[in-house]
Formats: sequence, structure tokens, C-alpha cells
Amino acid sequence: MNIAIDLGSDRTRVFIENKGKVLDEASVITYDIDTNEIYAVGDEAYAMIGKTPLGIRAAHPMDSGVIAQSDLVEEMVDIMMRELCPVKISNPRVITAIPCALTEVEKRAVVNAVSSFGARKVYLIETPKAAALGCGADITSPHGVFIADIGSGTADIGVLSLGGLSASKSVKHAGSAMDEAIVKYVRKEYNLVIGTNMAESCKKAIGCVVSLPKQETFRVKGRDAISGLPRYVDVTSEEIKGAIEEIAKEIVTAIRDVLEQTPPELLSDVSTDGIILTGGLAKLKGMAQLVGLTTKLKVRVHKYAPDCVIMGCGKAIKYIPYADKEMVSGISPLLTAY
Ligand SMILES: Nc1ncnc2c1ncn2[C@@H]1O[C@H](COP(=O)(O)OP(=O)(O)OP(=O)(O)O)[C@@H](O)[C@H]1O
Ligand SMILES: [Mg+2]
Repeated sequence: MNIAIDLGSDRTRVFIENKGKVLDEASVITYDIDTNEIYAVGDEAYAMIGKTPLGIRAAHPMDSGVIAQSDLVEEMVDIMMRELCPVKISNPRVITAIPCALTEVEKRAVVNAVSSFGARKVYLIETPKAAALGCGADITSPHGVFIADIGSGTADIGVLSLGGLSASKSVKHAGSAMDEAIVKYVRKEYNLVIGTNMAESCKKAIGCVVSLPKQETFRVKGRDAISGLPRYVDVTSEEIKGAIEEIAKEIVTAIRDVLEQTPPELLSDVSTDGIILTGGLAKLKGMAQLVGLTTKLKVRVHKYAPDCVIMGCGKAIKYIPYADKEMVSGISPLLTAY
């Protein structure tokens, strides 16, 4: 059996050959700090963030696309695969996406995590390649494809041709850094302490990186930092833009850097086709516009932006015979097998 797992900082997605996407859950685990007993994983655990009693923690164990707490990530994947996945999977071959430029140790940690429930073999693919495959691009042709997958912990940017990356860059600040920036802003400006889930809801509702034609507001609720009592404020889209735009600019600068490193022949393909944005943060209001304004290129957000990486990992299953050297001729976008 062949499957794909996209172990994202924000969400974990699973694809099964001939079935499609079968699981999409928050990459969150709730556990007892002293005994390590697990209380919940996935969306159920996400709903507990900031609400757990003393001694119990609900946390994202993935940070910036890398494994921050390996034992927790392994446990989370194991429980998701055994208890939440609607299809029972045994001894599969697994394809998984990784940010560009991971160290060998970081790659190993990903391999251990996705094989925690008993995988036979793990194949790695860089996120921009998977995202491009998920968008339907033919990445093994000599035609250049420019893609930026902007998620929660990382923005992975790459230009592809002939199954490989000609230039790439990974930025370790994306959606969750914006949530943190909103928490900080509200605390500093209004003396109001809010949680990251509230900040994320605010970002999704009114967050923007270019001014909106009509200003929008969102009610953030939390605890007054001085009185300790519950309080709320109505924040505006322009304020949120001020809080998060630096992070968006960092991502856009990285996109420019990759364009500058792109060989001229591929650049001519990119100037015809433009840039494709995938990942959940590609849906942030004004993100595509900001990239377009800075690069002077056409920018398109894929219709199913958050799912492109998992769908692309699923499509990459067909390259396993090349990676295994069962077929000798042909280009394979798969990186390494463990
Ligand atoms: N409509 C939206 N507007 C703004 N942000 C959004 C929207 N939808 C999702 N997001 C943000 O996108 C991010 C999640 O994207 P995605 O699912 O691609 O991340 P991931 O794959 O789990 O993380 P990564 O690839 O960085 O490890 C979160 O920060 C989420 O808040
Ligand atoms: Mg991702």
C-alpha cells in the first residue's frame, strides 16, 4: 500500500493511493506534562489550546516545518493513523513533503515521525515540488514553474524544471508567526491578553497585507492584563495589517531572492506563466496582490491552495519505481528513500 503524509506545522493531511485525501486534522496534541499521558490529538486537541487545566498542555509539536518535539510528533502521527484515519493502513510505503534545505538530522526526524505507525519505506520530496505537482504542473518537463507554498510555519519557494529545483528558499516565518504578532499587538496596544486561536480567527476574518477597499473589524476577546477580568476590543483590518505586514514582506523578499537566482531561460517561462501560490496563507487577503506588486508578475492562488502539497505527494507515488531503481530511465522528483 502506498500513502502520502503532509506533516504540516498547522495541519496533518493523509492521502491514500486510489482513494485521495482521507484525513485533514490539526497538528496538535494534548498531553499531561508530568506523565506524558495523551488526552487528544488533531482538531479535538486544537479546540483545547489555551483552555487546558494546570499540568496539561495542548501544543503544536511541529515548529517551522521541522520536528520541535520528536516524541510528541511521533505519538501524534501514530494516534492519527491508528484512531482518526478512516482506512486501516498496514506496512505502507510513505511519501512525505519536507521544507527545502533541511539538515540530515531534521530529515531523519521527519522520517521517524511518519514511520511511527509502522511504515515500510519513506520517500522525501521538497514542498515546492509537491505543491507544483498538486497544481497539475508537469515538473519533469524543461519548462520552468515558479511556486511559493505559504503555510503556518514555513514559506517554501522554488523554481522547478526537469524534476529538480533550480533555485529555492525556505522562510521560517509564516501564518503562525502572524498569529503571534497579533497576540503581541493586542497586548501592547490594548493591554488585552488573547490566545493564539483567537488571533488566528482574527487573521482569517480580517487579516490583510494590502489596505482593503472597506475597513473591516473583528471583536477579539481575552483577559485584561491589569484587572485580570474578561474584556474585548474591536480591532480593524488596518491595525492587523500593521501587525502582520513585516512577516508578509519577509516572504515576498524571499520570492524576489529566488527570482534573482533563477536562470534566465527559466525566468522567461516564469514571466509568461507567472507565480503560483499554494498553502493556507496564500488565502490571506492581499497576499497575491503584494507578491504581484513587488515582482511585477502575474500571481495566481490555486483554488485548493491548502491541499496542493498533499495532492502533489499523492501524485508523486507514481515515481516510486524510479526512486527504487526498478525503472532505470526517467526523471524522479523524489529526493531520498529511507
Ligand atoms: N482564509 C485564510 N486567511 C488567512 N490565513 C489562512 C486562511 N486559511 C488558512 N490560513 C492560515 O494558513 C496556515 C495554514 O496553512 P497550511 O495548511 O498550508 O499550513 P501547514 O501545511 O500546516 O504548515 P507548514 O507547511 O508551514 O508546515 C495557518 O496559519 C492558517 O491560519
Ligand atoms: Mg504545508
